[in-house]
Amino acid sequence: MNSSGVVYFSTMIKVIVLGYGNVGRHLVKAFQAAQDVEVVQVYHRSAQDDSELSDVEITSDISEIKVADVYVIAIPDDEIEGFSKQIPKNDGIVVHTSGSVSIQKIHDTHQKGIFYPLQTFSKDRTVDFSTVPICIEAQSERDLETLRTLAESISVSVHHITSVERRKLHLAAVFVNNFSNHLYHISEEILLENNLSFDLLKPLLRETTEKAIISKPAEVQTGPAVRNDEQTIEQHLELLRNKKYRKIYKAITKSITATHGKKL
Ligand SMILES: NC(=O)c1ccc[n+]([C@@H]2O[C@H](COP(=O)([O-])OP(=O)(O)OC[C@H]3O[C@@H](n4cnc5c(N)ncnc54)[C@H](OP(=O)(O)O)[C@@H]3O)[C@@H](O)[C@H]2O)c1
Repeated sequence: MNSSGVVYFSTMIKVIVLGYGNVGRHLVKAFQAAQDVEVVQVYHRSAQDDSELSDVEITSDISEIKVADVYVIAIPDDEIEGFSKQIPKNDGIVVHTSGSVSIQKIHDTHQKGIFYPLQTFSKDRTVDFSTVPICIEAQSERDLETLRTLAESISVSVHHITSVERRKLHLAAVFVNNFSNHLYHISEEILLENNLSFDLLKPLLRETTEKAIISKPAEVQTGPAVRNDEQTIEQHLELLRNKKYRKIYKAITKSITATHGKKL
């Protein structure tokens, strides 16, 4: 209550982040910068050199977990189910940040939810969270609203997505990010074997991504497969010494020709 007798209710959402890896670190930073969110604690099982967290309480003992509105589990997918059992019963919402793990994997003692940030995170790369789509799911309207408020405090792109939809989203994300990145790696290897720099391909890489963003990817497909340039394809296959990479080349070429209605 202030001096004029007006009562202010705090809308501050109290959050505990459990796990301090790629995602955990970025979430803690984003929540700390948000208005109306308080990071009351971070759980990190191997908390030792977390000097960057001097302004937040940190624990490595799950039994010491404090009271919060939302408990965000940011640990590897396969560990989520077992770990959620260890979180003491509480009145908050226990969410995880995975694209592929069902909401049901969170232990039944908890009110369950999902807080999936659809972006690729690495510890040492800065992320502008304000544009990261955050996919939320909960088991009640009230919890969904709490998660929406929390997500909107760090991002302008918040989406209510079911576990079934999220699994498909994650599958599509694997193609766009993980598979394409592996293909970049293969390209770099081919260049390095021939004493050429990957820098030569970077303008092409940028333009390919830009075109896919502003158009439909199938409409901007170029290359020997879509043109059905059989001689070029044969040449490439001869040049590729790595058997695994030849298989990948053939499979993707086949998929492109099938998509564009041509026979290989
Ligand atoms: N990385 C991404 O790009 C990305 C994007 C969207 C969503 N996600 C999801 O976010 C979650 C975390 O991914 P991440 O990339 O941040 O993982 P990560 O970098 O490997 O971090 C994992 C964190 O979990 C802790 N941990 C591992 N096993 C544990 C256990 N059994 N009990 C307690 N703590 C444990 C680790 O502790 P130590 O430091 O002690 O090893 C570390 O702090 C996953 O569900 C992932 O699918 C990731």
